[in-house]
Amino acid sequence: MIDLLATEKELISRHIIPGGVCADFTMGNGHDTLWLSRAVGETGKVYAFDVQQAALDSTARLLKEENAHDNVTLILDSHHNAANYIKEPICVGMFNLGWLPGGDKSITTLRETTLPAVETAIQLLAPGGGILLAVYPGHEEGRIEGELITEYLSTLNRKQICCSKLQIVNSPTSPFFFLIEKK
Ligand SMILES: C[S@@+](CC[C@H](N)C(=O)[O-])C[C@H]1O[C@@H](n2cnc3c(N)ncnc32)[C@H](O)[C@@H]1O
Repeated sequence: MIDLLATEKELISRHIIPGGVCADFTMGNGHDTLWLSRAVGETGKVYAFDVQQAALDSTARLLKEENAHDNVTLILDSHHNAANYIKEPICVGMFNLGWLPGGDKSITTLRETTLPAVETAIQLLAPGGGILLAVYPGHEEGRIEGELITEYLSTLNRKQICCSKLQIVNSPTSPFFFLIEKK
């Protein structure tokens, strides 16, 4: 059976450029940040965003424990402000929507900021770059985020950007993801 996590990583790996710039738009406990840091290597750069200091602390701890490269900038701000920090095109962006695992479930990604953040991420994306966006429709805000993102991505010009959705259709509350690829 399909392993969604492995499939996600395989698809987004194709857009990684060693020495390139990436963004983790939802840092959380830093697992994706660490993965990106290793994938671009020590000459690359990773910007990671979260609105919770607990996420920055947890990620800093993980990066230290794992002897990660010194190529990560942790930013305590909402992802929709990413263009204030990232001034160069990115080869890969990752969103893993929802709340901090093991943290406060009332602090979750919200449609009002998620949608502008996705638009910003697309603007920052280099030609040939890719964005992976994981959605958790098992809770109400996640379900709505998924619907709105589908609506928004459906309006984009297919000649400039290709937006795919991978969902297990006979498990509608399971997580699903979008892959956004710029030509
Ligand atoms: C599911 S977790 C991410 C998991 C993370 N990718 C990992 O590898 O551990 C979602 C994170 O998004 C964060 N978040 C919520 N709203 C945000 C916003 N507006 N900007 C950036 N991060 C936000 C939450 O605080 C939470 O830590």
